[in-house]
Amino acid sequence: MPLSGRLLVTGGAGFIGSTWVRQVLRNNPDVRVTVLDKLTYAGNPANLREIEDDPRYRFVKGDITDRDLVSELAGEVDTIVNFAAESHVDRSIEEPDAFIRTDVLGTHVLLEAARRAGHRRYLQISTDEVYGDVAHGASVETDPLRPRSPYSASKASGDLLVSAYFTTYGLATLITRASNNFGPHQYPEKLIPLFITNALDDEPLPLYGDGRQVRDWLYVEDHCAAISLVLERGEPGSTYNVGGGSQITNLELTEMVLSELGKPRSLIRHVEDRPGHDRRYAIDSSRVRALGWRPQRTLREALAETVGWYVEHPEWWRPLKTGEYLDYYRRQYGARLAASDAGSVVERA
Ligand code: NAD
Ligand code: DAU
Repeated sequence: MPLSGRLLVTGGAGFIGSTWVRQVLRNNPDVRVTVLDKLTYAGNPANLREIEDDPRYRFVKGDITDRDLVSELAGEVDTIVNFAAESHVDRSIEEPDAFIRTDVLGTHVLLEAARRAGHRRYLQISTDEVYGDVAHGASVETDPLRPRSPYSASKASGDLLVSAYFTTYGLATLITRASNNFGPHQYPEKLIPLFITNALDDEPLPLYGDGRQVRDWLYVEDHCAAISLVLERGEPGSTYNVGGGSQITNLELTEMVLSELGKPRSLIRHVEDRPGHDRRYAIDSSRVRALGWRPQRTLREALAETVGWYVEHPEWWRPLKTGEYLDYYRRQYGARLAASDAGSVVERA
Protein backbone atom coordinates (compact mmCIF):
# COMPACT_ATOMS: atom_id res chain seq x y z
CA MET A 1 0.00 0.00 0.00
CA PRO A 2 1.49 3.37 -0.91
CA LEU A 3 2.04 6.04 1.72
CA SER A 4 -0.39 8.93 1.76
CA GLY A 5 -1.07 12.01 3.83
CA ARG A 6 0.82 15.16 4.78
CA LEU A 7 4.28 14.61 6.20
CA LEU A 8 6.60 16.96 8.06
CA VAL A 9 10.10 15.64 7.39
CA THR A 10 12.68 17.24 9.66
CA GLY A 11 16.34 17.09 8.65
CA GLY A 12 15.22 16.38 5.09
CA ALA A 13 18.17 18.22 3.54
CA GLY A 14 20.69 15.84 5.11
CA PHE A 15 22.05 12.59 3.72
CA ILE A 16 19.37 10.04 4.73
CA GLY A 17 16.44 12.48 5.00
CA SER A 18 16.91 13.77 1.45
CA THR A 19 17.27 10.23 0.08
CA TRP A 20 14.01 9.30 1.82
CA VAL A 21 12.14 12.38 0.55
CA ARG A 22 13.23 11.71 -3.04
CA GLN A 23 12.29 8.03 -2.72
CA VAL A 24 8.90 8.76 -1.10
CA LEU A 25 7.88 11.30 -3.76
CA ARG A 26 9.01 8.87 -6.49
CA ASN A 27 6.94 5.96 -5.13
CA ASN A 28 3.84 7.57 -3.59
CA PRO A 29 1.66 9.84 -5.76
CA ASP A 30 -0.66 10.89 -2.90
CA VAL A 31 1.91 12.06 -0.40
CA ARG A 32 2.68 15.70 0.45
CA VAL A 33 6.00 16.58 2.05
CA THR A 34 7.14 19.64 3.98
CA VAL A 35 10.86 19.54 4.78
CA LEU A 36 11.95 21.50 7.86
CA ASP A 37 15.73 21.84 8.02
CA LYS A 38 18.10 24.26 9.74
CA LEU A 39 20.71 23.82 7.00
CA THR A 40 23.60 23.24 9.37
CA TYR A 41 26.98 22.40 7.80
CA ALA A 42 25.48 18.93 7.05
CA GLY A 43 22.28 20.16 5.39
CA ASN A 44 22.52 20.75 1.66
CA PRO A 45 19.78 22.16 -0.61
CA ALA A 46 21.54 20.47 -3.56
CA ASN A 47 20.34 17.13 -2.13
CA LEU A 48 16.74 18.19 -2.84
CA ARG A 49 17.29 19.91 -6.19
CA GLU A 50 15.71 17.17 -8.31
CA ILE A 51 12.35 17.56 -6.51
CA GLU A 52 12.29 21.32 -5.94
CA ASP A 53 9.64 21.88 -8.65
CA ASP A 54 7.38 19.06 -7.44
CA PRO A 55 4.06 20.68 -6.37
CA ARG A 56 3.71 18.08 -3.56
CA TYR A 57 6.89 19.36 -1.88
CA ARG A 58 7.90 22.49 -0.01
CA PHE A 59 10.98 23.51 1.96
CA VAL A 60 11.04 25.52 5.20
CA LYS A 61 14.35 26.65 6.66
CA GLY A 62 14.17 26.47 10.44
CA ASP A 63 15.16 24.80 13.69
CA ILE A 64 13.28 21.90 15.32
CA THR A 65 13.85 23.57 18.70
CA ASP A 66 11.76 26.58 17.54
CA ARG A 67 8.46 25.79 19.31
CA ASP A 68 6.32 28.36 17.48
CA LEU A 69 7.49 27.35 14.03
CA VAL A 70 7.19 23.62 14.78
CA SER A 71 3.72 24.00 16.24
CA GLU A 72 2.57 26.01 13.19
CA LEU A 73 3.93 23.40 10.77
CA ALA A 74 2.60 20.50 12.86
CA GLY A 75 -0.88 21.99 12.49
CA GLU A 76 -0.65 21.55 8.71
CA VAL A 77 0.35 17.85 8.63
CA ASP A 78 -0.73 14.52 10.14
CA THR A 79 2.67 12.83 10.60
CA ILE A 80 6.21 13.82 11.60
CA VAL A 81 9.27 11.86 10.47
CA ASN A 82 12.27 13.12 12.43
CA PHE A 83 15.64 12.78 10.72
CA ALA A 84 16.98 16.06 12.14
CA ALA A 85 20.01 15.51 14.33
CA GLU A 86 23.60 16.34 14.89
CA SER A 87 24.88 13.02 13.57
CA HIS A 88 28.69 12.83 13.70
CA VAL A 89 30.27 11.04 16.67
CA ASP A 90 33.65 12.83 16.38
CA ARG A 91 31.99 16.25 16.48
CA SER A 92 29.97 15.17 19.55
CA ILE A 93 33.24 14.38 21.33
CA GLU A 94 34.65 17.78 20.40
CA GLU A 95 31.54 19.86 21.22
CA PRO A 96 28.46 18.07 22.65
CA ASP A 97 26.16 21.10 23.22
CA ALA A 98 24.44 21.12 19.82
CA PHE A 99 23.79 17.37 20.15
CA ILE A 100 21.87 17.84 23.38
CA ARG A 101 19.94 20.79 21.96
CA THR A 102 18.87 19.19 18.69
CA ASP A 103 18.76 15.46 19.45
CA VAL A 104 17.15 15.74 22.90
CA LEU A 105 15.38 19.11 23.20
CA GLY A 106 14.45 19.17 19.49
CA THR A 107 12.89 15.71 19.74
CA HIS A 108 10.84 16.87 22.70
CA VAL A 109 9.59 19.96 20.81
CA LEU A 110 8.48 17.74 17.90
CA LEU A 111 6.76 15.20 20.16
CA GLU A 112 4.89 17.91 22.03
CA ALA A 113 3.72 19.51 18.76
CA ALA A 114 2.62 16.10 17.41
CA ARG A 115 0.67 15.38 20.61
CA ARG A 116 -1.08 18.75 20.64
CA ALA A 117 -1.94 18.49 16.93
CA GLY A 118 -3.36 14.96 17.39
CA HIS A 119 -1.07 13.41 14.79
CA ARG A 120 -1.68 10.03 13.16
CA ARG A 121 1.98 8.89 13.44
CA TYR A 122 5.38 10.04 14.76
CA LEU A 123 8.50 8.27 13.45
CA GLN A 124 11.89 8.80 15.09
CA ILE A 125 14.95 7.90 13.02
CA SER A 126 17.44 6.46 15.48
CA THR A 127 20.61 4.43 15.53
CA ASP A 128 22.15 1.10 16.58
CA GLU A 129 24.68 3.16 18.59
CA VAL A 130 22.13 3.50 21.44
CA TYR A 131 22.82 -0.16 22.39
CA GLY A 132 26.51 0.62 22.89
CA ASP A 133 29.41 -1.71 22.26
CA VAL A 134 28.26 -5.29 21.50
CA ALA A 135 31.06 -7.82 22.10
CA HIS A 136 29.04 -10.89 21.03
CA GLY A 137 25.72 -11.62 19.36
CA ALA A 138 23.31 -8.96 18.13
CA SER A 139 21.15 -6.38 19.92
CA VAL A 140 17.38 -6.79 19.88
CA GLU A 141 14.94 -3.93 20.30
CA THR A 142 14.15 -4.75 23.95
CA ASP A 143 17.81 -4.69 25.03
CA PRO A 144 18.83 -2.01 27.54
CA LEU A 145 20.32 1.17 26.10
CA ARG A 146 24.02 1.63 26.93
CA PRO A 147 25.17 4.62 24.86
CA ARG A 148 28.82 5.61 25.33
CA SER A 149 29.40 8.78 23.28
CA PRO A 150 27.68 12.17 23.61
CA TYR A 151 26.09 11.48 20.19
CA SER A 152 24.67 8.07 21.12
CA ALA A 153 23.59 9.34 24.56
CA SER A 154 21.69 12.20 22.92
CA LYS A 155 20.00 9.79 20.49
CA ALA A 156 19.12 7.36 23.31
CA SER A 157 17.61 10.25 25.27
CA GLY A 158 15.48 11.15 22.25
CA ASP A 159 14.32 7.52 21.98
CA LEU A 160 13.32 7.44 25.65
CA LEU A 161 11.22 10.58 25.20
CA VAL A 162 9.52 9.00 22.18
CA SER A 163 8.62 5.88 24.20
CA ALA A 164 7.35 8.06 27.05
CA TYR A 165 5.00 9.92 24.67
CA PHE A 166 3.54 6.58 23.52
CA THR A 167 3.05 5.29 27.07
CA THR A 168 1.84 8.51 28.64
CA TYR A 169 -0.16 10.19 25.89
CA GLY A 170 -0.92 7.36 23.47
CA LEU A 171 0.85 9.17 20.60
CA ALA A 172 1.30 6.57 17.82
CA THR A 173 5.09 6.59 17.88
CA LEU A 174 7.57 4.42 15.99
CA ILE A 175 11.37 4.22 16.22
CA THR A 176 13.81 2.80 13.68
CA ARG A 177 17.40 2.04 14.75
CA ALA A 178 19.68 1.61 11.76
CA SER A 179 23.28 0.57 11.37
CA ASN A 180 25.95 2.57 9.47
CA ASN A 181 24.50 4.06 6.29
CA PHE A 182 26.43 4.86 3.14
CA GLY A 183 25.59 6.01 -0.37
CA PRO A 184 25.47 9.13 -2.55
CA HIS A 185 25.09 12.58 -0.91
CA GLN A 186 26.79 11.63 2.40
CA TYR A 187 28.76 14.52 3.89
CA PRO A 188 32.49 13.75 3.49
CA GLU A 189 33.30 13.61 7.21
CA LYS A 190 31.92 10.06 7.57
CA LEU A 191 34.23 7.10 6.91
CA ILE A 192 33.17 6.04 3.40
CA PRO A 193 32.81 9.43 1.64
CA LEU A 194 35.86 10.77 3.51
CA PHE A 195 38.02 7.86 2.36
CA ILE A 196 36.68 7.88 -1.23
CA THR A 197 37.25 11.62 -1.69
CA ASN A 198 40.66 11.59 0.07
CA ALA A 199 41.80 8.64 -2.05
CA LEU A 200 40.65 10.36 -5.24
CA ASP A 201 43.05 13.18 -4.30
CA ASP A 202 45.80 10.75 -3.20
CA GLU A 203 45.45 12.09 0.36
CA PRO A 204 46.02 9.77 3.38
CA LEU A 205 43.12 7.76 4.83
CA PRO A 206 43.18 8.20 8.66
CA LEU A 207 42.09 4.84 10.07
CA TYR A 208 41.44 4.95 13.82
CA GLY A 209 43.53 2.59 15.98
CA ASP A 210 44.04 -0.89 14.58
CA GLY A 211 41.07 -0.59 12.18
CA ARG A 212 39.61 -3.85 13.53
CA GLN A 213 36.37 -2.20 14.72
CA VAL A 214 33.28 -3.82 13.23
CA ARG A 215 30.37 -1.94 11.66
CA ASP A 216 27.34 -3.32 9.78
CA TRP A 217 26.99 -1.31 6.55
CA LEU A 218 23.56 -0.44 5.18
CA TYR A 219 22.91 1.11 1.78
CA VAL A 220 20.90 4.29 2.25
CA GLU A 221 18.19 3.37 -0.31
CA ASP A 222 17.61 0.09 1.58
CA HIS A 223 17.37 1.99 4.87
CA CYS A 224 14.84 4.37 3.32
CA ALA A 225 12.69 1.49 2.06
CA ALA A 226 12.61 0.10 5.62
CA ILE A 227 11.56 3.51 6.99
CA SER A 228 8.59 3.66 4.59
CA LEU A 229 7.55 0.13 5.52
CA VAL A 230 7.69 0.87 9.24
CA LEU A 231 5.73 4.09 8.76
CA GLU A 232 3.09 2.22 6.81
CA ARG A 233 2.86 -1.06 8.72
CA GLY A 234 4.73 -0.64 12.02
CA GLU A 235 2.99 -1.33 15.32
CA PRO A 236 2.56 1.93 17.31
CA GLY A 237 4.86 2.03 20.32
CA SER A 238 7.38 -0.30 18.65
CA THR A 239 11.03 -0.05 17.68
CA TYR A 240 12.54 -1.65 14.57
CA ASN A 241 16.24 -2.40 14.10
CA VAL A 242 17.43 -2.00 10.49
CA GLY A 243 20.81 -3.60 9.81
CA GLY A 244 22.53 -4.14 6.48
CA GLY A 245 23.66 -7.68 7.37
CA SER A 246 27.15 -6.72 6.16
CA GLN A 247 29.48 -6.77 9.16
CA ILE A 248 33.06 -6.01 8.27
CA THR A 249 36.08 -4.38 9.92
CA ASN A 250 36.98 -0.80 9.03
CA LEU A 251 40.30 -2.06 7.65
CA GLU A 252 38.60 -4.55 5.30
CA LEU A 253 36.13 -1.88 4.19
CA THR A 254 38.97 0.58 3.52
CA GLU A 255 40.72 -2.03 1.39
CA MET A 256 37.49 -2.54 -0.61
CA VAL A 257 37.24 1.22 -1.23
CA LEU A 258 40.88 1.38 -2.39
CA SER A 259 40.42 -1.61 -4.65
CA GLU A 260 37.27 -0.09 -6.25
CA LEU A 261 39.28 3.06 -6.98
CA GLY A 262 42.44 1.26 -8.06
CA LYS A 263 44.40 3.17 -5.39
CA PRO A 264 47.32 1.78 -3.31
CA ARG A 265 47.09 0.45 0.26
CA SER A 266 49.94 2.80 1.16
CA LEU A 267 47.35 5.62 1.50
CA ILE A 268 46.17 4.05 4.78
CA ARG A 269 47.46 5.77 7.96
CA HIS A 270 46.74 4.21 11.34
CA VAL A 271 46.12 7.22 13.60
CA GLU A 272 45.29 7.72 17.27
CA ASP A 273 41.95 6.11 18.10
CA ARG A 274 38.62 7.89 18.73
CA PRO A 275 38.12 8.28 22.52
CA GLY A 276 35.64 5.71 23.86
CA HIS A 277 35.49 4.09 20.40
CA ASP A 278 32.84 1.35 20.33
CA ARG A 279 34.52 -1.79 19.05
CA ARG A 280 31.55 -3.52 17.49
CA TYR A 281 27.90 -2.88 16.67
CA ALA A 282 25.53 -5.65 15.62
CA ILE A 283 21.74 -5.61 15.50
CA ASP A 284 19.10 -8.25 14.90
CA SER A 285 16.71 -7.05 12.17
CA SER A 286 14.19 -9.93 12.40
CA ARG A 287 11.37 -7.60 13.36
CA VAL A 288 11.61 -5.37 10.28
CA ARG A 289 12.28 -8.43 8.12
CA ALA A 290 8.98 -9.87 9.38
CA LEU A 291 7.28 -6.83 7.79
CA GLY A 292 8.77 -7.96 4.45
CA TRP A 293 11.96 -5.85 4.29
CA ARG A 294 15.25 -7.12 2.81
CA PRO A 295 18.33 -5.20 1.65
CA GLN A 296 18.25 -5.15 -2.16
CA ARG A 297 22.00 -4.93 -2.84
CA THR A 298 25.12 -6.61 -1.49
CA LEU A 299 27.74 -4.45 0.22
CA ARG A 300 30.07 -4.90 -2.76
CA GLU A 301 27.43 -3.81 -5.32
CA ALA A 302 26.27 -0.83 -3.28
CA LEU A 303 29.85 0.25 -2.52
CA ALA A 304 30.75 0.10 -6.23
CA GLU A 305 27.71 2.28 -7.02
CA THR A 306 28.63 4.72 -4.26
CA VAL A 307 32.26 5.01 -5.34
CA GLY A 308 31.03 5.58 -8.92
CA TRP A 309 28.72 8.37 -7.74
CA TYR A 310 31.53 10.26 -5.96
CA VAL A 311 33.82 9.82 -8.97
CA GLU A 312 31.12 11.28 -11.22
CA HIS A 313 29.97 14.09 -8.90
CA PRO A 314 32.97 16.15 -7.78
CA GLU A 315 30.73 19.24 -8.22
CA TRP A 316 28.73 17.93 -5.21
CA TRP A 317 31.57 17.17 -2.77
CA ARG A 318 34.46 19.46 -3.75
CA PRO A 319 32.72 22.66 -2.56
CA LEU A 320 32.04 20.96 0.80
CA LYS A 321 35.74 20.29 1.45
CA THR A 322 36.52 23.98 1.91
CA GLY A 323 36.20 26.66 4.64
CA GLU A 324 34.88 25.33 7.98
CA TYR A 325 35.43 21.75 6.79
CA LEU A 326 39.17 22.36 6.45
CA ASP A 327 39.32 23.86 9.97
CA TYR A 328 37.47 20.82 11.28
CA TYR A 329 39.75 18.47 9.34
CA ARG A 330 42.87 20.12 10.76
CA ARG A 331 41.54 19.93 14.35
CA GLN A 332 40.45 16.33 13.95
CA TYR A 333 43.34 14.89 11.94
CA GLY A 334 46.27 17.35 11.79
CA ALA A 335 48.19 16.18 14.86
CA ARG A 336 47.10 12.56 14.46
CA LEU A 337 48.39 12.33 10.89
CA ALA A 338 51.62 14.10 11.82
CA ALA A 339 52.17 11.64 14.71
CA SER A 340 51.41 8.72 12.43
CA ASP A 341 53.88 9.96 9.82
CA ALA A 342 56.49 10.38 12.58
CA GLY A 343 55.93 6.71 13.48
CA SER A 344 54.35 7.22 16.90
CA VAL A 345 51.23 5.23 15.99
CA VAL A 346 52.37 1.78 14.99
CA GLU A 347 50.31 -0.24 12.55
CA ARG A 348 49.02 -3.19 14.56
CA ALA A 349 47.47 -4.97 11.55
P1 NAD B 1 23.07 14.40 8.42
O1 NAD B 1 24.01 14.99 9.40
O2 NAD B 1 23.52 14.16 7.01
O3 NAD B 1 21.75 15.31 8.31
C1 NAD B 1 21.15 15.89 9.43
C2 NAD B 1 20.20 16.97 8.91
O4 NAD B 1 19.53 17.54 10.04
C3 NAD B 1 20.90 18.11 8.18
O5 NAD B 1 20.20 18.44 6.99
C4 NAD B 1 20.86 19.26 9.17
O6 NAD B 1 20.82 20.54 8.55
C5 NAD B 1 19.55 18.96 9.90
N1 NAD B 1 19.51 19.54 11.25
C6 NAD B 1 20.46 19.46 12.22
N2 NAD B 1 20.06 20.14 13.31
C7 NAD B 1 18.82 20.63 13.04
C8 NAD B 1 17.88 21.39 13.77
N3 NAD B 1 18.14 21.80 15.03
N4 NAD B 1 16.71 21.72 13.19
C9 NAD B 1 16.44 21.33 11.91
N5 NAD B 1 17.29 20.61 11.17
C10 NAD B 1 18.47 20.27 11.72
O7 NAD B 1 22.56 13.08 9.10
P2 NAD B 1 22.14 11.68 8.45
O8 NAD B 1 23.32 10.82 8.34
O9 NAD B 1 21.30 11.94 7.25
O10 NAD B 1 21.23 11.11 9.63
C11 NAD B 1 19.84 11.36 9.67
C12 NAD B 1 19.26 10.70 10.91
O11 NAD B 1 19.53 9.30 10.87
C13 NAD B 1 19.87 11.21 12.22
O12 NAD B 1 18.84 11.28 13.16
C14 NAD B 1 20.87 10.12 12.60
O13 NAD B 1 21.03 10.07 14.00
C15 NAD B 1 20.19 8.89 12.07
N6 NAD B 1 21.07 7.78 11.68
C16 NAD B 1 22.13 7.99 10.85
C17 NAD B 1 22.91 6.91 10.44
C18 NAD B 1 24.09 7.07 9.51
O14 NAD B 1 24.84 6.12 9.32
N7 NAD B 1 24.30 8.23 8.90
C19 NAD B 1 22.60 5.62 10.90
C20 NAD B 1 21.51 5.45 11.76
C21 NAD B 1 20.75 6.55 12.13
O1 DAU C 1 25.95 3.08 13.57
C1 DAU C 1 25.12 4.12 13.08
C2 DAU C 1 25.89 5.41 13.15
O2 DAU C 1 26.86 5.36 12.10
C3 DAU C 1 25.02 6.65 12.99
O3 DAU C 1 24.13 6.73 14.08
C4 DAU C 1 25.88 7.93 12.93
O4 DAU C 1 25.06 9.05 12.66
C5 DAU C 1 26.88 7.77 11.81
O5 DAU C 1 27.76 8.88 11.80
C6 DAU C 1 27.69 6.49 11.98
O6 DAU C 1 28.53 6.59 13.15
P1 DAU C 1 30.03 6.04 13.12
O7 DAU C 1 30.82 6.71 14.17
O8 DAU C 1 30.04 4.55 13.11
O9 DAU C 1 30.45 6.54 11.64
P2 DAU C 1 31.82 7.11 11.07
O10 DAU C 1 31.68 7.14 9.59
O11 DAU C 1 32.24 8.35 11.76
O12 DAU C 1 32.84 5.96 11.47
C7 DAU C 1 32.69 4.65 11.02
C8 DAU C 1 33.83 3.83 11.59
O13 DAU C 1 35.06 4.26 11.00
C9 DAU C 1 34.02 4.01 13.09
O14 DAU C 1 34.46 2.78 13.66
C10 DAU C 1 35.12 5.05 13.20
C11 DAU C 1 35.96 4.77 11.98
N1 DAU C 1 36.62 5.95 11.39
C12 DAU C 1 35.85 7.04 11.09
C13 DAU C 1 36.43 8.17 10.56
C14 DAU C 1 35.57 9.38 10.25
C15 DAU C 1 37.98 5.94 11.11
O15 DAU C 1 38.68 4.93 11.36
N2 DAU C 1 38.55 7.06 10.58
C16 DAU C 1 37.83 8.18 10.29
O16 DAU C 1 38.42 9.17 9.82
